[in-house]
Amino acid sequence: MKIVFIASLGILSLTQTSLAFAENANGKNLYLQRCSMCHGTDIKATGPLANKSNPPTPDLTSSAFKKRLNDYPGVIVSSIILRPNGDLIPRTLRENGVKLSPHAWSVKDLRDLNQYMGDVISQKR
Ligand code: HEC
Repeated sequence: MKIVFIASLGILSLTQTSLAFAENANGKNLYLQRCSMCHGTDIKATGPLANKSNPPTPDLTSSAFKKRLNDYPGVIVSSIILRPNGDLIPRTLRENGVKLSPHAWSVKDLRDLNQYMGDVISQKR
């Protein structure tokens, strides 16, 4: 993509920022399709299923979770791969009639989703 007639450095850096964000549409789509029904589009546990499980969905923008993510940067990816809460998530989806098609996660998907959520949590988006 060519950027023509850029008047100031301010506009240039804004343009670059939005291009960098646009490149991570994959992370955003994965999040919206597979996580937001519980975690909410704002990652603050505002999705329609947030209170349908025990424990309920946590607010991942809280300072407690920010600290957790800082201490353990793999926590988002590991929550997908290791499923530390057993069948809690598939069961909650099933009990509420939400069908998620199976997804073969690529390394890129995991990185993109991790990046997207990290950006929202640290308010870079
Ligand atoms: C059915 C609702 C639901 C869906 C869908 C869901 N989550 Fe969660 N998530 C939860 C609940 C409930 C917890 C708290 C579980 C617990 O405390 O054992 C949680 C916890 C987490 C945590 C915190 C883990 C920790 O150890 O602190 C992360 C990170 C997370 N989810 C990421 C995701 C991602 C990424 C997706 C999408 C791929 C996703 N979740 C989809 C309900 C959901």
